[in-house]
Amino acid sequence: MEIQNWKEILSPYELAVDEIVLKVRHIMKEYADQGVYCPIENVLGRVKSISSILAKAKKKNVPIEEITERIEDIAGIRIICQFVEDIYKVVKAIQKRSDMKVQSEIDYIANPKDSGYRSYHMVVLYQVQTAFETHTIPVEIQIRTLAMNFWAVIEHSMKYKYDHNLPSRLSMRLTAASEAVLKLDNEMSSIRSEIVEAQTSFREKANIVHDILNSIRNLHKVAPQEEVMALQDQFFQIYNQGDMEQLRQFSFHLDHVAQVYLMKQKGSQT
Ligand code: GTP
Ligand code: MG
Repeated sequence: MEIQNWKEILSPYELAVDEIVLKVRHIMKEYADQGVYCPIENVLGRVKSISSILAKAKKKNVPIEEITERIEDIAGIRIICQFVEDIYKVVKAIQKRSDMKVQSEIDYIANPKDSGYRSYHMVVLYQVQTAFETHTIPVEIQIRTLAMNFWAVIEHSMKYKYDHNLPSRLSMRLTAASEAVLKLDNEMSSIRSEIVEAQTSFREKANIVHDILNSIRNLHKVAPQEEVMALQDQFFQIYNQGDMEQLRQFSFHLDHVAQVYLMKQKGSQT
């Protein structure tokens, strides 16, 4: 990296970040348009400032001319999810994409850092075309839940404040807080499955009600009016009680009644 040209050198990194953020936002929009739950809650992108790049190069003993080869997080994307399960869905989606090649992955969720830091990290190679050239840019993608992000942002500012030498009292409290974050994520994951369950049973109920109303409609053609009206009243009563099992039983009962009338009809025809 020629330091006097840093603005020009960082320009394709900016393009890579802008393009990826745009693509992720578009995916989020597609989910929203379809009314389907989106595994991505938010996406952020940034190009590391020249002063942070130089500080990191110094810390890691990277010579200036090797910065672009050896520092992999000049372009950074952060994807925020609601639930841990969503993170792994996003990881799979990234692995499948044809516009990025996964170079490395670290799962700091399965293996948290000693600090308590949890996130899923990927470095992908991403091609951009500028006016005169094609560049292959390494991009670091961090994928974390809202709770993990909350912790990481706070911990990062604390580390910054104390210049990476956190007083042990504070670092112990942050580690304890990271355990609370883990508990919160687990708690939220259990609610997630409840939501999915609720959606499934909502769909099931809709199907049963649909079947019942169809049966009543068909019975109108073959059964006496009073009987159909009585069945209809019974349906409303059960529906208002909201018990799925009773609805299911009633649906079977209607099938049976319909069959009896069908047999009677056949019998009278012969
Ligand atoms: P860096 O020199 O920080 O890039 O370390 P690395 O190249 O070994 O990669 P690592 O996966 O450890 O960290 C990459 C990035 O993850 C960092 O730049 C941070 O944004 C984030 N990160 C890693 N560890 C921690 C941590 O303990 N606390 C916080 N807040 N962020 C972390
Ligand atoms: Mg790194």
